Amino acid sequence: MSDDSRPSRSEARTAVVIPAAGKGVRLGPGAPKALRALNGTPMLIHAVRAMAASRAVSLVVVVAPPDGAPEVKSLLDAHALPERTDFLVVPGGETRQESVKLGLDALPPDHDIVLVHDAARPLVPVDTVDAVIEAVRGGAPAVVPALPLADTVKEVEPARTSGDPEPVVATPSRARLRAVQTPQGFDRATLIRAHETVTDDVTDDASMVEQLGLTVVVVPGHEEAFKVTRPLDLVLAEAVLARRRLNDGF
Ligand code: CTP
Ligand code: MG
Repeated sequence: MSDDSRPSRSEARTAVVIPAAGKGVRLGPGAPKALRALNGTPMLIHAVRAMAASRAVSLVVVVAPPDGAPEVKSLLDAHALPERTDFLVVPGGETRQESVKLGLDALPPDHDIVLVHDAARPLVPVDTVDAVIEAVRGGAPAVVPALPLADTVKEVEPARTSGDPEPVVATPSRARLRAVQTPQGFDRATLIRAHETVTDDVTDDASMVEQLGLTVVVVPGHEEAFKVTRPLDLVLAEAVLARRRLNDGF
């Protein structure tokens, strides 16, 4: 039976939850990672703008460091977003999973598609965002952007003492492997059910939907959607921004 009060998937409104509550331990000492500057602008602002660049996105929920919500709120107030895009700021939790859940809890009811996007992926192009939304609109309950791997991957028996040689257990066929990025896109009800049901520690949201037994699909990711994780990634991110500025200038 159809419910006429529900918009069809093709006109569904899209909200984005941006987990930005991490410390950025691997980046080294300093401010929380999402608040570090790239070419003078906080990484989080780049990430929010990357999401707001999609015409389908009408709400961005930023999950701030637990004691940093007021600071993040004033940061967003100080940086213009397109008029069509609202934002909310909520404090995050101890783990990424908790932070995403706190963001989902703050979502108003009128969005049927939800994206989850790492603040640490500030440079994702709008075409990737739109491709993810398009695939959810097409009926997939969960969509992830991903790229083939450059390196061969080995499964090992982890060393008990760090630095010891580790025996290789297996070499999965690289042709079947993908490196997964964000934004990941979901049918809202499915993502909420996944976060209510799955309690295992996971590093991405789509794997929770897999645990519900549903099919997750992959769309092409983008090199520029890389995650700023270690110091060298800051150099790469600023180089990407410099290249964009050059290209925009001509
Ligand atoms: N994140 C979050 N809440 C946490 C931990 C992580 O919202 N408790 C967010 C981060 O802010 C980041 C995204 O999840 O945008 C991906 O996590 P990651 O790259 O691991 O960032 P950090 O956890 O900050 O970095 P690290 O693991 O090096 O400390
Ligand atoms: Mg982390």
